[in-house]
Amino acid sequence: MTDAAGITQAVRDLYNIYPFPPDPLTAGAPPGYNWRWSVPAAHHFALGWVPRDWPELHILDAGCGTGVGTDYLAHLNPTAQVIGIDLSETALAIAQERVARSGVAQRVTFHQLSLMDVQQLSQQFQYINCVGVLHHLPDPKAGLQALASVLAPGGLLHVFVYALWGRWEIRLMQKAIRLLQPPGDYRAGVAIGRQLFAHLPADNRLVRRERERWAWDNRQDAVFADMYVHPQETDYTVETLFDLIAAGGLEFLGFSNPRYWQLERLLAPMPELLQVAQSLPRQKQYELVEALDPELTHFEFFLGRPPLRRWDATDETLLLGALAVRSPCMMGWPGRSLLDYDYQPVDITPVQQELLAQATGTTTVAQLIAQVPGATVADIRDLYQRQLLWLQPW
Ligand SMILES: C[S@@+](CC[C@H](N)C(=O)[O-])C[C@H]1O[C@@H](n2cnc3c(N)ncnc32)[C@H](O)[C@@H]1O
Repeated sequence: MTDAAGITQAVRDLYNIYPFPPDPLTAGAPPGYNWRWSVPAAHHFALGWVPRDWPELHILDAGCGTGVGTDYLAHLNPTAQVIGIDLSETALAIAQERVARSGVAQRVTFHQLSLMDVQQLSQQFQYINCVGVLHHLPDPKAGLQALASVLAPGGLLHVFVYALWGRWEIRLMQKAIRLLQPPGDYRAGVAIGRQLFAHLPADNRLVRRERERWAWDNRQDAVFADMYVHPQETDYTVETLFDLIAAGGLEFLGFSNPRYWQLERLLAPMPELLQVAQSLPRQKQYELVEALDPELTHFEFFLGRPPLRRWDATDETLLLGALAVRSPCMMGWPGRSLLDYDYQPVDITPVQQELLAQATGTTTVAQLIAQVPGATVADIRDLYQRQLLWLQPW
């Protein structure tokens, strides 16, 4: 299938049969948090600060599927207006039911609309979430350009697209199923795929990868279909990813899974090679990590629309005058052994706990340090760098 309308129709058909994600509908707020869907947390991570006064926040979930992300976006941004768009009317009906049950339906609106036509909404957004969608478009670059055209100046776009090297076994199984499946019959494709995995030799590479990495999620047919029976998928390497990003005309603000991209993770025992690697241009550093650790199955990152103001808290005068807010994206609070924004265990000192306790957004850093015996600017910087404390310099 080559023409764009045909691809779009095939993608819509797939998700009407297998709406994604197939998460159950539950009453009340969704569990925990995903910091990438908290606009202040994303802003703090990407630009190093949080504005004191947001304009009325408008958020777009582009390709919202059954609304799991949309629901989080509404709950983690309690005053925002959220719009979800998707091709699949079946997925949208589930998304609508999801936000009704979780109690945020009055702030969330859904439209059956391709993201290629997003300008029809006639509005701009301070935050756009586009997870698992662009790689299913006939022309992902055009899709990114369409989203960029409705991103407000200073706004952030969070994107998730597939990575090639960690998915090559998936690509081969997709091909095998496509060769065996009646065209467009996605249910048959799932049955064929399951048969292949059940009967190919247990040490077959595709079978091993499925068993070790994906089988638990793929118990559900909708997840299996999304992975193995998709009619349209583009997978990226670092190089083609940065081609895509360049086409969007937005600024790259960093990967939202930064631990994977740390050179030290791979090269720390080889200090001389680490030094060489650190002197490479940024994209080459990413290419090196990708080459040495090809487990990566997706890219997730933030883009921003200029003008963008970055801050790193080095200016001490501005730091002392900034308002301080304890991040809500942590588990175990109040306490000293916490899970941070990324659900990683972190320990803080008694002084830092007291600083966080008093950081409610009405006190400046200078006042906090004066109020908490033993507190120093270094404590503030440490909490700030670990994303436990948000700072509002302006
Ligand atoms: C893998 S699902 C991701 C759903 C959701 N974003 C998530 O991460 O849970 C991909 C979704 O993108 C939607 N989609 C694909 N192409 C689209 C397009 N051109 N415009 C809008 N939605 C699209 C599909 O209908 C499907 O619901």
